[in-house]
Amino acid sequence: MWLLVLMLLGLLFVYRWYRQSQILENISDKYVFITGCDTGFGNLLAKQLHKRGMKVLAACLTEKGAENLKKETSSRLQTIILDVSDGKNVSSAVEWVSSVVGDRGLWGLVNNAGIPGDMVPLGWLKTNDILKVLNVNLLGLIDVTLTLLPLIRKAQGRIVNVSSICGRLPIIPGGHNISKYGVEVFSDSLRRELNDFGVKVSIVEPGAFNTSLSVLPFIKKSVEDKWQMLPTETKRIYGEQYFKKYLQNMDNMVKSSSPRNYLVTNCMEHALTACYPWTRYSAGLDAKLYYIPLSYFPTFVIDYLASLKTPKPAQGTK
Ligand SMILES: *[C@@H]1O[C@H](CO)[C@@H](O)[C@H](O)[C@H]1NC(C)=O
Ligand SMILES: *[C@@H]1O[C@H](CO)[C@@H](O)[C@H](O)[C@H]1NC(C)=O
Ligand SMILES: *[C@@H]1O[C@H](CO)[C@@H](O)[C@H](O)[C@H]1NC(C)=O
Ligand SMILES: *[C@@H]1O[C@H](CO)[C@@H](O)[C@H](O)[C@H]1NC(C)=O
Ligand SMILES: *[C@@H]1O[C@H](CO)[C@@H](O)[C@H](O)[C@H]1NC(C)=O
Repeated sequence: MWLLVLMLLGLLFVYRWYRQSQILENISDKYVFITGCDTGFGNLLAKQLHKRGMKVLAACLTEKGAENLKKETSSRLQTIILDVSDGKNVSSAVEWVSSVVGDRGLWGLVNNAGIPGDMVPLGWLKTNDILKVLNVNLLGLIDVTLTLLPLIRKAQGRIVNVSSICGRLPIIPGGHNISKYGVEVFSDSLRRELNDFGVKVSIVEPGAFNTSLSVLPFIKKSVEDKWQMLPTETKRIYGEQYFKKYLQNMDNMVKSSSPRNYLVTNCMEHALTACYPWTRYSAGLDAKLYYIPLSYFPTFVIDYLASLKTPKPAQGTK
């Protein structure tokens, strides 16, 4: 009896492995559009897919990012300057993509562009601060996706969204987790809708990685600036100790982030080049073994574990 179960499990495992190892033919004919290629995952992915022989359309926020990327690659990679939160910019970028790919349509879209926003407690923020993050990470992503959709449908292509484990658990405070949560929520209904058009949608949830979003001095500066600008009353309520402990936590989070960014881009590559891409990819041991399992626990457990690390406000009542 047990032997049979083990054999079945073994077969299932081999089948899964075989299925996921099937890679598409002719990937060198295919165009992939990636947002946010200046640094981080986008930059790494653009170079990786270029190396694999795919045709890469890399959208960068800055001229400098685009120049650097071009220097490191060949004419198989083309760049464009794009701010995903600017609607006009998005439509002209899509026109450009359309003129490049022509009748065959766009095979892949990787929604990677994102900003961390101010990584501070929600009590320090104004609605506008969060709006800034949502405009890029959520509305920008939706704009790019919907505007490119006709081209992707034509190619019966793939969409890859980069969320993060913050979509499941708010480990980065501020507007970041809310925007990522929004990306996750969108996925389920739209995935079913697009399935009928032969378009496959995958979502990649990286754990804590060493990307440009996690450059320590930058994060610290933004937290310090926000603290300085707080009304005296808010500062008194939270207290100097809170602020110091908060910075210390940021320090620890960044120091323990994984430098193996390729784990994330490998998931993206699989989503774009495999015959049977997965719907969801989690990248990094912390995401696989800790954050994702944890997200299935009851809320009070998660709240308790989170409270162990967060600093206590000076005027708190506990
Ligand atoms: C790959 O390209 C070859 C030659 O261009 C073509 O004959 C073949 O049908 C293509 N395969 C697929 C799966 O598109
Ligand atoms: C987007 O805006 C920037 C700055 O205004 C401009 O340099 C760039 O060419 C625009 N991109 C497109 C695709 O129109
Ligand atoms: C985002 O993080 C904040 C602060 O840590 C938290 O209060 C909020 O519930 C989180 N939002 C989501 C959608 O997880
Ligand atoms: C990615 O985001 C777009 C726009 O919100 C949505 O249409 C799509 O379903 C999302 N896909 C996944 C897998 O999250
Ligand atoms: C993260 O990457 C930067 C630049 O690539 C490097 O200087 C830094 O040492 C890395 N940090 C960790 C914790 O790997």
